Amino acid sequence: MRHLIESRQDRPTDDPIFALNREANERRKNGESIVNATVGALLDDAGKLAILPTSARAIREVPEEAWAGYAPIAGSPDFLKAVLDDLLGSSPKLRASATAAATPGGSGALRHAIANWLQPGQAVLTTSFYWGPYLTLADEADRKLQTFSMFGSDGQFDVEALDRALGEVLLHQDRALIFLNDPCHNPTGYSLRPAEWREVVKVLLRHGETKPVTVLLDVAYSAYGATDLSAMLHEVEPLLGKVGLLLAWSASKQFTHYGLRVGALVVCEPDEVARARTAAALSYSCRGTWSNCNAGGMRAIARLLTDPALKQACDEERAKLAAMLRARVAAFNALASAKGLKYPRYEGGFFVTVFCAEAQKKAAELRDKGIYVVPTGKGLRIGLCSVAEADVPRLVDALG
Ligand SMILES: Cc1ncc(COP(=O)(O)O)c(C=O)c1O
Repeated sequence: MRHLIESRQDRPTDDPIFALNREANERRKNGESIVNATVGALLDDAGKLAILPTSARAIREVPEEAWAGYAPIAGSPDFLKAVLDDLLGSSPKLRASATAAATPGGSGALRHAIANWLQPGQAVLTTSFYWGPYLTLADEADRKLQTFSMFGSDGQFDVEALDRALGEVLLHQDRALIFLNDPCHNPTGYSLRPAEWREVVKVLLRHGETKPVTVLLDVAYSAYGATDLSAMLHEVEPLLGKVGLLLAWSASKQFTHYGLRVGALVVCEPDEVARARTAAALSYSCRGTWSNCNAGGMRAIARLLTDPALKQACDEERAKLAAMLRARVAAFNALASAKGLKYPRYEGGFFVTVFCAEAQKKAAELRDKGIYVVPTGKGLRIGLCSVAEADVPRLVDALG
């Protein structure tokens, strides 16, 4: 008797990245010298999880009754206000039109976007290189994923490919939802420049005149970008009221507490009635999935975002981590370009992808040398977030 429904019979048993990470850790434990560039979290140069001490302290200081009680379904109001102020503070126009719901990390925000901005069977559109769980999230919600070629022959973001793909999607669907992960795109490391955003916005506005088009900005890595998020927000302001504008916000990386599962889906909708409908739809989705989020986590993050002394302490501690990461990126860029490795413009962030035709084969060869990277199909994802600066030469040498 097969009790599990047909579509769930052959689900993969293990996330491939977690499996590689486990193997790397086992070999290291057995005394081998391993470079593990598979981890999606920021590690210090000694290989330990980098944690903002002030985040950890604020979490410890949350009273036990705050952990124990249920949170409001859509999230604690003070947490949601703090997120909106933090994220959209530089853009009064976007801030005035925003509503939000708490989600377990940015992942939950992506989940709510798929469920509320696409019909079952429709496809999310994203870049040809993308974070694997985009597909899992779409599939789990009975939606599909379609991609457009991320880079043109000049190595820059391929706005024309986006234009073509969006036109194609809208031939078959009555609406479109586009996921764009920026800055510090996972897995390529690419960050769009303001001029590139301007072109993207033009394309979205043009298609948005024909059918409902919504863009979700996945800003999970924004705290580690080469430039401030305000430049991007300034560029996307013209979308307001014409193209649906969503942001997936996450505390995982910004506050180095990945397991706390604190995030939010932010929606910018200038029409008051539509905004109230959106808030109701999101609240309903929360109730119908995880019910409500981590109450103690929201309490701690709200405090970190609003208490001036704690905010400043976090900013200073994070700046040190960002500098550590930047030193690895600089070392990688210097060595990799000298070696002629092909990879996109990489100005910061957790990951970079080195283009490689036979990624699986190359990743297996690297594993034999004790170097763990993630084959993505069209390249090798290198998590510099988990590689000590001193190991970058060995890594680049093996990649060449
Ligand atoms: C591109 C991207 N988006 C969103 C997330 C969401 O992470 P979380 O659910 O921990 O906030 C991640 C995490 O690795 C990511 O890489």
